[in-house]
Amino acid sequence: MAKPIDVTIVGGGMITNDLILPSIYHMQRTDVVGDIKICALNSGPLKELKENEEIRQAFPGQDFAAYPDVSEPADKMMPDLYREVLKKIPPRQAVIVAVPDQLHYGIVKEALACNQHVLCVKPLVLKYEQAVELEKEAYEKGLFIGVEYHKRFDRRALVARRNYRLGQFGDFVMGEAKMIEPYFYRSSNFQNWFTTDKTDPFVYVGCHYVDLVYFITDLKPVEVSVSGIKGTFPNGNEGYMWAHGRVTYENGAILSVIDGLGYPDDGAGSNDQCLVMFCEGKDKSGLIKHNDQFRGVSHSYLEGIGCAGSHFNYINPDFYRLVPWEGEGFKPIGYGFDSIAATINTVHRIENTVEPLEEDESLKERQAIIKDADEKGIIATPANSYINELVVEAARLSISNDSKAARISYEGTPGVSLKY
Ligand SMILES: NC(=O)c1ccc[n+]([C@@H]2O[C@H](COP(=O)([O-])OP(=O)(O)OC[C@H]3O[C@@H](n4cnc5c(N)ncnc54)[C@H](O)[C@@H]3O)[C@@H](O)[C@H]2O)c1
Repeated sequence: MAKPIDVTIVGGGMITNDLILPSIYHMQRTDVVGDIKICALNSGPLKELKENEEIRQAFPGQDFAAYPDVSEPADKMMPDLYREVLKKIPPRQAVIVAVPDQLHYGIVKEALACNQHVLCVKPLVLKYEQAVELEKEAYEKGLFIGVEYHKRFDRRALVARRNYRLGQFGDFVMGEAKMIEPYFYRSSNFQNWFTTDKTDPFVYVGCHYVDLVYFITDLKPVEVSVSGIKGTFPNGNEGYMWAHGRVTYENGAILSVIDGLGYPDDGAGSNDQCLVMFCEGKDKSGLIKHNDQFRGVSHSYLEGIGCAGSHFNYINPDFYRLVPWEGEGFKPIGYGFDSIAATINTVHRIENTVEPLEEDESLKERQAIIKDADEKGIIATPANSYINELVVEAARLSISNDSKAARISYEGTPGVSLKY
């Protein structure tokens, strides 16, 4: 029988609650995952996760070990506790990094130092150099790093990739993408870290569509300019609430991306998102058009149980939903689940394949599976998604320099510089 993989999640916030923990619980009951630990900054979010009624109903009898313990006072911050937790995990299990963007690098480094495979929420890191460093270190140790760009697993994106690469649309030439997250995000924990010096809506969510266009076309971005509109969070911190990015690709194609923390809480949302790509062929043009907000399903509830307390909602059954299944409770479905499962299944496959092997052979085999995933390009890995770090660097450079364009060069060592 295959050996399950223990999973340690660092970060107990929104993404852990809304996607990661339910996905990992499901994989626990299908024997892919063994023990589950979650480490957060303080006990508050962990207590909320344990008490979440929807999760309890879906996964009856399942639980995780909390660090710090939920009996610790909620205001006691323990920013270094994850180091202790990671040190105690048996080698080559999986660590899921789900903390604010600027902490990813340090925690992924620590996980690799503790000989762990990694699944990191996007963006992997904020600097290209760091992505290369992590890729190299992980490969040398035969540790897998998957980056959770879940839009890659949306069926419509997979269909578009295949058909684009079969030449059925022509060459991408002009496109637009949009991702406007809900207004209520402004009053969440975002206000503590989504500040102008650290990130902006283009970097936070625009990167999904930049990655997706690359995923579909294999075209590298070469120039980025981003303009932001600032606002104040309820706690007084200043952040970019809106951003507009313009990305030019290596063939001259242009993608315009608008992002924000501002989709109306009263809207049917729960956010607004889409992708349109015009392409050119011989004497004809081609088109890829995804409405990623309204997927043809509307619900109107008796009580205000929808997003931000709303009654009438557009439902996205494709990303993540809990649904009845043949087993107990409910199971997660959708590309969010598929994306988490792809990396955890890969780690599971790696470790079960190398189980009987001596260390030398085991390392070679692990490295071969990593290279294969890099080349397939379905799961985002540091080697096949590094353009995202370059785009993030270019975007931050541009937004903090009055929207001047930043160039991405791929000659020699790839790098980013302002275009004058
Ligand atoms: N669509 C997506 O792919 C998507 C969606 C949402 C979030 N994310 C990413 O997930 C990450 C987290 O986002 P979120 O919305 O869950 O944020 P959040 O603010 O809700 O939660 C952050 C969590 O990190 C924990 N944390 C902070 N410092 C820590 C430390 N030193 N040790 C242990 N835990 C620590 C906090 O306790 C909190 O539980 C971000 O990188 C974000 O970009 C991705």
